[in-house]
Amino acid sequence: MLIVSLSSVSRQAFIQSQTRCLHATRLAKHSKAFVTTPIYYVNAVPHIGHLYSTVLADTIRRNYALHGKEVIMSTGTDEHGLKIQQAAKKNNMQPIEFCDKVSESFRKLCTAANIEYTSFQRTTSPTHKKAVKELWNTLLKNGYLYKGKHEGWYAVSDEAFYAPNQVKEVTDEKTGEKTMVAIESGQKVEWMSEENYKFRLSLFGDKLVEWIDSHPTAIVPHNRRNEVLSWIKAGLADLSVSRLRSRLDWGIEVPNDPEHTIYVWLDALTNYLTATGYPWHGEHSSPNKEAFPPDVQIVGKDIVRFHAIYWPAFLMAADLPLPKQILAHAHWTMGKQKMSKSRGNVVDPFEVLDTYGVDPVRYYLVRDGGLADDGDYSEKMIKTRYKKDLAGQLGNLLNRTTAKSLLPSGVVPGNSLNTATVHPNDQMLHDQIRAVPENFNKAFEEREFNKAYAFIFDMLSQANKHFTENEPWKMTQNIEDKERLDTILFYSLEACRVAGILLQPIMPTKMESLLNQLGVPKDERYFKDSLSLKVGKDITVNKTEADILFPRLK
Ligand code: ME8
Ligand code: MG
Repeated sequence: MLIVSLSSVSRQAFIQSQTRCLHATRLAKHSKAFVTTPIYYVNAVPHIGHLYSTVLADTIRRNYALHGKEVIMSTGTDEHGLKIQQAAKKNNMQPIEFCDKVSESFRKLCTAANIEYTSFQRTTSPTHKKAVKELWNTLLKNGYLYKGKHEGWYAVSDEAFYAPNQVKEVTDEKTGEKTMVAIESGQKVEWMSEENYKFRLSLFGDKLVEWIDSHPTAIVPHNRRNEVLSWIKAGLADLSVSRLRSRLDWGIEVPNDPEHTIYVWLDALTNYLTATGYPWHGEHSSPNKEAFPPDVQIVGKDIVRFHAIYWPAFLMAADLPLPKQILAHAHWTMGKQKMSKSRGNVVDPFEVLDTYGVDPVRYYLVRDGGLADDGDYSEKMIKTRYKKDLAGQLGNLLNRTTAKSLLPSGVVPGNSLNTATVHPNDQMLHDQIRAVPENFNKAFEEREFNKAYAFIFDMLSQANKHFTENEPWKMTQNIEDKERLDTILFYSLEACRVAGILLQPIMPTKMESLLNQLGVPKDERYFKDSLSLKVGKDITVNKTEADILFPRLK
């Protein structure tokens, strides 16, 4: 491997930028939250794994909004590189035609799943190309790029380079044919040797470790953080960041060196900058500049290396602030095998959304998705979640407490609750409703989604139990029971309201309908409104929205 030494000019720039990058990290302002998804390869149409990352991001985005925060969210498609070039060819299409078509299917999936992104990035767009060139020039100016000979293994399927100790030989059982594959991804690798641009990744090991050590939640969950640390500690080699144009022309040209195409991962990672209007100077104002760096970047564990090593290193090298958090989830499997386009064992997300409804699918994915460890996809489990949690707990509680027979006037008076003394039968539920928002919030912030939602459904289960045990239907005849009846209904309705508020990010449409039914004003649907019981105000159930929230599955 040939290392070209830094000229004295670029060495000085290099030292200066070392000092500046620390400043940039400290000065990061934070008035708008920013959530990102990966940008997906357009070599094939979306599957449930892609939907998972996107739904997680949308749920987190909406949860920021629940706290009254302004928030932007980016998603999009990754359209350059060998993998796409080859896929277009296989489909007998021009690369751009092919990209247009598949990119559109990712956009449609967002619409189908009620994903409210604020920016959909395509790496073939002129604004993105401009951003990539700007980042490239900055890296060059700061002394982090040099030309050198690169030899090594490359996996087109991963668009990644592997060192000799990261590959192994495998023998096809049937044909006896021997091939080299990457140990990490199992994908086929090929030997390549060419002169290209390299990025001085080897300089960033200590700084990356320092960043990770001083920001314990920068990479979550913990197992992924440890994995990243072990990769860094094993040593980082400089990274090849261009390919000869003669080998790969479907990509962005290296500025002032048209013989070279920019490496697809440097290109793709820049999308998170493009989404905020980078480069921020120039004739167009950039209202989202202040949103950078991202607060949460959702990625799958397959692309942690790129997001937790390359991306922060590029940012440091460009004097830009680092992301607050990389949330790297595990994979959905099918019969314990990773669901992937190349394996062909994928689930069509459009079909699933159609069969079970948008909100129940969102709920299933976030509740049961494998965050630290892989989760096996199961439609049986979607049905179970629907029947037990959604229809069985939430829908059931709402139906029985808003029943005309119990509440002919539709109004539970605001003075139903004696705040001085809680009835002993109500104490447990009272405490649980009070505790649930903070418990939920803490678990959510710790990215323990299953646990967070379990708090809500445990509370609902307690509320149903409370309802059943107190038998309010026996209290409708005697006027002296009226006060007690109102109190029981009050608690049941409050359980529904608090759950409804907290579940908005994950099930936006259903919860809007629920909160409408409970007559909760639009400006009282924030997290803070879930923190206290609605004492002193009448609760007016809105009978015009009396439809069943979670009807029986067909
Ligand atoms: O890697 N389970 O794109 P990609 C869960 N273009 N999530 C899954 C999954 C599964 N079985 N399969 C895919 C790329 N995903 C690059 C990203 S970003 C600057 C560039 C999700 O189309 C998961 O988020 O291969 C994974 O990281 C991503 O889709 C990979 O999508
Ligand atoms: Mg992939």
